Amino acid sequence: MDSRIDKYLNTNIKDIINEFNSVQSELDKFEIGCAPCNLGTCKLKDVVEIHNLNAENEKKLITNIFNIIYPNETFEIPRIGKDQKASTSVSLSPPLKMLVEEHVLIKRVLALIPKITETLNLKLAEHKELVLNIADFIRNYADKYHHSKEEDILFKGFESTLEIINVMYCDHIQSRKYVVDMVKAVEKTNTELANKNLLNYFNLLSEHIQKEDNILYPWLNRNLETKQVGEIYSQFLKINNERPEIQPKYESLTNKLESLYLQK
Ligand SMILES: [Fe+2]
Ligand SMILES: [Fe+2]
Repeated sequence: MDSRIDKYLNTNIKDIINEFNSVQSELDKFEIGCAPCNLGTCKLKDVVEIHNLNAENEKKLITNIFNIIYPNETFEIPRIGKDQKASTSVSLSPPLKMLVEEHVLIKRVLALIPKITETLNLKLAEHKELVLNIADFIRNYADKYHHSKEEDILFKGFESTLEIINVMYCDHIQSRKYVVDMVKAVEKTNTELANKNLLNYFNLLSEHIQKEDNILYPWLNRNLETKQVGEIYSQFLKINNERPEIQPKYESLTNKLESLYLQK
């Protein structure tokens, strides 16, 4: 491969965008939103591969980017993605489907947060209980039940391969900080602080789930071997079987929260 191409394919996307601003608008054309990402440490080649463009679009994108970086020069453009598994219509394997289903429950709670923050008043005991219920859901369902499957099982071994996984870890860590501050806000009867952290969590997790559902899980689905899929699924089932009360408990909490806030 041409060393000039190779150099930039292995450069962090944020550094490339900082040096060549219009690269972001080329990425935007293919709905690759690296600008809002708080890390931006993915290499250009990973960004291209993980978005699973077809060969034609991938060539168009890389050509346009290198026309910005090296104007008036011509290159042999390499194929980065994998043609044989490039279809986006391929359905997810059972462990990834399980995580997407858990996201559905998390998204139901997320959807209530903006509405809740419109009327939250921590001087009311029931509103304190409400925020504590949400914190409980986040800690014990979204984090301990769901994120732990990702961190302890699914993502294991991929950290050094794919920078987006490190971004997912950072999001999990940040989400834990928001929950700590939500609970502090309840202790201090500080409605403003609670609203701020609820909305921060809403924004962070909404985008996080979107990245996992649409980018990361399909990529993992294409790259995990059948044997790995089986091992991951059996470990996920083990967790579910060890804690059978978790799913129904947090489904019923979600139903209760929806009955309070969905009609208002
Ligand atoms: Fe996650
Ligand atoms: Fe997730």
